[in-house]
Amino acid sequence: MQTSDSQARPVLLVTRRLPEAVEARAARTYDARLNPDDAPQTAPSLVERASGAAGILCCPAEKLTADVIGALPDSVRILATFSVGTDHIDLGAARARGIVVTNTPGVLTDATADTALLLILGAARRASEGESLVRTGGWTGWTPTQLMGTHLGGKRLGVFGMGRIGQAVARRARAFGMSVHYSNRSRLPAELEEGAVFHADPEAMLAATDVLTLHCPATPQTHHWLNAARIARLPRGAVVVNTARGSVVDDEALIAALKDGHVAAAGLDVFENEPNLHPGYRGLPNTFLLPHLGSATVETRNAMGFKALDNLDAFFAGQEPPDRVA
Ligand code: DGY
Repeated sequence: MQTSDSQARPVLLVTRRLPEAVEARAARTYDARLNPDDAPQTAPSLVERASGAAGILCCPAEKLTADVIGALPDSVRILATFSVGTDHIDLGAARARGIVVTNTPGVLTDATADTALLLILGAARRASEGESLVRTGGWTGWTPTQLMGTHLGGKRLGVFGMGRIGQAVARRARAFGMSVHYSNRSRLPAELEEGAVFHADPEAMLAATDVLTLHCPATPQTHHWLNAARIARLPRGAVVVNTARGSVVDDEALIAALKDGHVAAAGLDVFENEPNLHPGYRGLPNTFLLPHLGSATVETRNAMGFKALDNLDAFFAGQEPPDRVA
């Protein structure tokens, strides 16, 4: 974006500490209000810090509800979220106030798909139990039956939500010898399906799934989608993995299935009400748990930040931001 000395640079509130290269670029272009201590933002602190800001570069950890959006100063014209997910923002409320919202699609596909594979392997091969045995000094040596897990080769991966990330997970899973089943709003063209079996009815896919991986957005329709009835459709001993959003899973139902063995193991990177996850997960040996780090690589977090800034630059240059969602 071009600015002249006589032209004041827009004030940009950056809610959390961002990778160095992203903050440096933000500071070159904007009157950037950074958060060097990375202090979490409560609704009142966010509204207060937004005073006089023209844009906010926000993060999924901030809940931009209708109330918060309603309380933002009139100066705020754009919210650029450092995420592909937008479920933390009330898009309707933003539209109603004439505030543009953008996200960061595309750049976190590979990192998130890698994390899904990490969770699939971690859960199927009982990595948490193994690591804890080594760390706690409880390992007394190799035995033929120690921590036997689930072999991936020859198993069926069920992908719920076959967008960019779901497709990237499917490609990786094929390299492990898995066959792919998927359910999506619409069937993919053959070149994107790459032999995956489409199930128009997600319930039918569950019966044909040994490892279920969730890649749908969090919407009212997908809230607690994986409930007791759907879990019951999975074959006994299935593995469940979630890198999408915690709200897609009914925690009580999944915990009950992990306890009774209907679900052999779960690999979870996201949780409802995170970081205050359901305490039932922590005590279960057959869970492999990560703190929402699906996109947490240096390369990906830089790319997310640059994409958010591309959107802001376009907006302040009077153009349509490329990743506008509201
Ligand atoms: C996103 O972008 O929505 C992710 O959950 C953050 O990594």
